[in-house]
Amino acid sequence: MDDDVVLSAPLFAAIDPEASQALFTSMKPLRLPRGRAVFHEGEPGDRLYVIGAGKVKLGRRSTDGRENLLSVLGPGEMFGELSLFDPGPRTATATAVADARLYELSHAELIDWLERYPAVAKHLLEALARRLRRTNEALADLVFADVPGRVAKALLDLSTRFGEPADDGLRVAHDLTQEELAQLVGASRETVNKALADFAARGWVRREGRAVVLLDMDRLERRAR
Ligand code: CMP
Repeated sequence: MDDDVVLSAPLFAAIDPEASQALFTSMKPLRLPRGRAVFHEGEPGDRLYVIGAGKVKLGRRSTDGRENLLSVLGPGEMFGELSLFDPGPRTATATAVADARLYELSHAELIDWLERYPAVAKHLLEALARRLRRTNEALADLVFADVPGRVAKALLDLSTRFGEPADDGLRVAHDLTQEELAQLVGASRETVNKALADFAARGWVRREGRAVVLLDMDRLERRAR
């Protein structure tokens, strides 16, 4: 059922369908209910995961207990590879924010796969470079952009993964609580809420529980710059 979306991951790019299917079949499926973690920051890690369905947040916790979200990933995306490419403990905790189905691959199997199909390494590097680009941008925004600008950017970023056309705009069912949205933006819940309320008052967005409908992409894009 998740075949197509998992087979669209960089891990399978440019590989013949038979070999891709064989690797996919060897991956262990795993169900992760909302709120459950698949691994925690600091643990040793020897496997990576491709998301077949649902959403997974990657978060880090400071010593005083505050949380920061690095990213929220969706179907076709991979995580858990860093502790393979740079051996060391998990760099973040991975938790389902919506019921998820994951496909697990051990690092040993990944190494075998890369030895058989070295061209896959290029696609994995592309995915890592994209992630680094995004992280650099988020870091610069933390220093240079104000909270409403960061909220606008976070909404646009979430829309590239989870946006679905609606009658009057693009509906982004992010499944994040207000607290989690604030952790993603790197600001307090109150300030993020204020920015969202302001966007709604201007008619740029409409809030719907754990979703938001983007009504004026142009204005949001300009606000995110
Ligand atoms: P690993 O360190 O094994 O476990 C945590 C995972 O979170 C990590 O591998 C990456 O797959 C993922 N991750 C870490 N940092 C980021 C980031 N900045 N953006 C997206 N994903 C990340």
